[in-house]
Amino acid sequence: MTQATEKISNLDSGQIVTFLLDWWRENGVEVLEAPRASAQQTPNPVTKAENIARPSAASIINPNNAVDEAKEIAKSANSLAELAQKLKTFENFHLVKTASQMVFCDGIETAEIMVIGEAPGREEDEQGKPFVGQAGQLLDAMLGSIGLSRKTNFYLTNTINWRPPGNRTPTKDEIAISLPIIKKHIELKAPKFIILVGGVAASSILEKSDGITKLRKNAHKYILDNGTEIPTYCIYHPAFLLRRPEQKQDTWRDLLAIKNVLSQMGLS
Ligand code: URA
Repeated sequence: MTQATEKISNLDSGQIVTFLLDWWRENGVEVLEAPRASAQQTPNPVTKAENIARPSAASIINPNNAVDEAKEIAKSANSLAELAQKLKTFENFHLVKTASQMVFCDGIETAEIMVIGEAPGREEDEQGKPFVGQAGQLLDAMLGSIGLSRKTNFYLTNTINWRPPGNRTPTKDEIAISLPIIKKHIELKAPKFIILVGGVAASSILEKSDGITKLRKNAHKYILDNGTEIPTYCIYHPAFLLRRPEQKQDTWRDLLAIKNVLSQMGLS
């Protein structure tokens, strides 16, 4: 008996479904799922067919309204706490309706280093904190290897604050809706150094069309509206490294480069 079949033979049918869904997800298969109970109680529920797939034009309430509302929320927030509070009233973003809850941040609010990932996955959606699943554990180990910890010296968030159903890659509309929010999040946090985790965070926040393989090779600057330039580095996403462990060597080099810059800046 293989380890996997031995593991499955000890599970009940519900646990087997969860095990297989996780296995497919970890192996890059986009898993579609039905809305959660809380999402089904919303006044304007989407149909099952709309909800489980990539959002169709009909299931997106109206991306332009959502971008406008995101900009309004961003404009009106004067602190991180206010931004988090106002986001709870976000009405026009379809992901708000399918997620269990918003995932806003974790780590040290006053830290000088800000780490930004892609979007919450299943565990993050359940616990309301970014990077708490398997990928999060690897991220903690990666950053821990260069002296960084969310318990002492970095602040952590995602480009998108609500889980895309089935952990699929966010769509262009979802990223466009989230950009005014994450930009305001960065402005209010005002970090001295940014680490972008994975291709979605890197290309959308730096507003570049290059992929992570290219973006991770260079130092970047994230420029706030007031002209402040924040040194910004990109690393591979830990979920990618779990699938492609041979890329860990390159990531180790990237982390050492980051450590070097942080020590030159007096941040470590
Ligand atoms: N992947 C991300 O990019 N962010 C999370 O919070 C979890 C997984």
